[in-house]
Amino acid sequence: MKSKTHTVAVIGGDGIGPDVIEVALELLNATKIKFTFKTADAGFGAYEKYGTPLPDKTIEICEKSDAVLFGAVTSPPNIEGYFSPIVRLRKHFDLYSNVRPIFSLPLESVRQNVDFTVVRENTEDLYTGKERLTKDGAIAERVITTKGSARIVKYAFDYAVKHSKKKVTVVHKANVLRLTDGLFLRVAQEIAQQYPDIIMEDLIVDNCAMQIVKNPERFEVIVTTNMFGDILSDESSALVGGLGVVASANIGKTIGLFEPVHGSAPKYAGQNVANPMATFFATSMMLTYLGETDASNRIKTAIIENIKKNLVTKDLGGTLSTKEFTTAVINNLN
Ligand code: NAI
Ligand code: MG
Repeated sequence: MKSKTHTVAVIGGDGIGPDVIEVALELLNATKIKFTFKTADAGFGAYEKYGTPLPDKTIEICEKSDAVLFGAVTSPPNIEGYFSPIVRLRKHFDLYSNVRPIFSLPLESVRQNVDFTVVRENTEDLYTGKERLTKDGAIAERVITTKGSARIVKYAFDYAVKHSKKKVTVVHKANVLRLTDGLFLRVAQEIAQQYPDIIMEDLIVDNCAMQIVKNPERFEVIVTTNMFGDILSDESSALVGGLGVVASANIGKTIGLFEPVHGSAPKYAGQNVANPMATFFATSMMLTYLGETDASNRIKTAIIENIKKNLVTKDLGGTLSTKEFTTAVINNLN
């Protein structure tokens, strides 16, 4: 049987974005799976070149691809007309699920026995841009819809089934935000009934924030609204090594966009020092999304083998450059 060629839109972006993406493509090629990579511009470099951080051509390339691999972009404050291309892409492609797996690596500096995934609603809540000035100050509208809540909760339960997780924790503030989070919780309770084999628990967000630090082993899948998810997922990253190692997936109906959690770290740009591990985990998630589960697992295992031998970059206490780490991971692929 002829294997499929996957078309992937590749957006390096700014700062260390292109550094980590370049080696991620080497790693993807080393899996022997067939890809067509279509490079596209976004970020501050694109703004300087074309007058927009997200050229139409980039959207067109993404539309014609099976997945998007995204590095990082620089978002300079105080530039009139500038907008975050990643936020715009999430909106344009209705990438409603933001999925961030948080798992312990065999590193002395990180928490052990942690293995959960934060599933964050990515299109609603306080992030729809509905803010206005009033005579007393300013008001932001919090938008929570039945449709938006149902599809993210369903995604979280399906994710639990697929990944053999037994429990989904629904995080909310329904005790105070009775209408918005009350709706989210009610919808979650209804959806949970369709999954009798998965335990659903609900937790108030402030308690959840505390439990993530105190007792992270108790979580399997967390599902929550946009802003709570933004904050809790960054908090969770800190348990397992933070910016250089954690990746996320943005999934919609038609396309998935995969990225490291970190930004463009401009001071390290072009110096062959950035840790590409987060981007490698992003490629692993992308391969799962494309149905290439075996290659996805091979990449994860190859990274973990390196860590066990302390073959890591400087941010994790090692001595390897970006390229040396990549070569070591590729040598471990089998
Ligand atoms: P950052 O994540 O770029 O870097 C913070 C610090 O973390 C760096 O100075 C570095 O010490 C370390 N770091 C991050 N990634 C690393 C890696 N792969 N290897 C080794 N060390 C790493 O966050 P910062 O400095 O707040 O933002 C820089 C720029 O990135 C800003 O313009 C910001 O708007 C943008 N940004 C973009 C994001 C995206 O593209 N999704 C996300 C977050 C920030
Ligand atoms: Mg964030």
